[in-house]
Amino acid sequence: MKVLIVGSGGREHAIAYSVAKSKRVDKIYCAPGNAGIGLIAECVPIGAMEFDKIVSFAKEKEIDLTIVGMDDPLVGGLVDELEAAGLKAFGPRKNAAILEGSKAFSKDLMKKYNIPTAAYETFDSAQKALGYLEGASFPIVLKADGLALGKGVLICNDIKEAKDGVRAIMEDKQFGSAGNRLVVEEFLTGREVSVLSYVDGRTIKTMTSAQDHKRAGDGDTGLNTGGMGTFSPSPFYTEEVDRFCREHIYQATVDAMAAEGRPFKGIIFFGLMLTEKGPRVLEYNARFGDPEAQVVLPRMKNDIIEVMEACIDGRLDTIDLQFEDNAAVCVVLASEGYPVKYDKGFVIKGLEHFEGQDSYFCFHAGTRLSGEDIVTNGGRVLGVTAKGRDLKEARENAYKATGWITFDNKYMRNDIGKAIDEV
Ligand code: AMP
Ligand code: GLY
Repeated sequence: MKVLIVGSGGREHAIAYSVAKSKRVDKIYCAPGNAGIGLIAECVPIGAMEFDKIVSFAKEKEIDLTIVGMDDPLVGGLVDELEAAGLKAFGPRKNAAILEGSKAFSKDLMKKYNIPTAAYETFDSAQKALGYLEGASFPIVLKADGLALGKGVLICNDIKEAKDGVRAIMEDKQFGSAGNRLVVEEFLTGREVSVLSYVDGRTIKTMTSAQDHKRAGDGDTGLNTGGMGTFSPSPFYTEEVDRFCREHIYQATVDAMAAEGRPFKGIIFFGLMLTEKGPRVLEYNARFGDPEAQVVLPRMKNDIIEVMEACIDGRLDTIDLQFEDNAAVCVVLASEGYPVKYDKGFVIKGLEHFEGQDSYFCFHAGTRLSGEDIVTNGGRVLGVTAKGRDLKEARENAYKATGWITFDNKYMRNDIGKAIDEV
């Protein structure tokens, strides 16, 4: 069969890698893809938001399955447009992708269905939000309602910071129309864990857990980024935590969406905070995480196409989802200055070390071809990933492999997976 993947990051490279392993797939296209994806798929210069072009391309090439990896096209309704044209697509429809597309929607859903999450209020005017802050306790969390490249969340330590944040989001529209509404939320403390799951509208099957490192600098300092590295599984995701989440969060979310007339088919990513009072949902995403996919997918034993088709056909209950009994660590190699300002276009050397390896992976995020060379083309450039028998070995392997790659302005965190030492 022929598969089209929509997106261009490390996550889409990890998806393409899994799709390429499927015996049922003869040809992979990626729109728009990147230089690494281009090694296993044919990249086509169509942007992820160019819905008409994507639909025409999928029809013309008789694509059997389109996998939408990114949040923007999902929230914008790409899956609906593909389906309307008679094409098969993996990912939630627009009315279900709102689970990620609107934080106000997801918070109201959790409240209505008693799914544990931080206490919150929603505001559609800056004035009301500012008034509310007068009686609030700090720190407090401000969240722009809509999509904001993972940057629409501000943690404010005092009333001044919070007021400045409200003005930046709602009046100066720092995150554009995502800031038309604002969620003001109780600040939670604890460990964060990401749990990704396949969902077919009714049944949910969770994947192995992972943990991201969102801040740019070592010791969780600096600005929030898309994610600087991950490890999987999380040793903090214990059986007890799993039991609680199964009882109160996972199936409850799927049932809530169905009850609202918004059946969810695709990936639900649960961003969880393990608080003293038990796990709480910080956020939902309607897609694989980036760079969570880079550590979760290489450990999945199933044929990804079979799992995705089972989601689409509503027979996920027949799938026995299995993961390898090992660990993986991904260290993101970024451009110095990310996430603010950075230069691009530097030649990347050492990629050949990853060829023919089955425990080391170099997932491309921001790269492009320039003549014969592969050059840097974004803030996050590569996700160097390694497996190991356990987390410590995986981390050692991943950091060893980061040394195989050189490019000007290469930057990485040196403490990905440090939390492992606390177990
Ligand atoms: P989100 O996009 O909602 O996952 O938020 C981004 C990050 O902000 C999360 O990964 C957390 O580190 C942090 N965060 C979000 N909500 C809260 C909260 N209620 N309390 C503390 N930290 C939070
Ligand atoms: N790594 C977090 C995300 O993909 O949203």
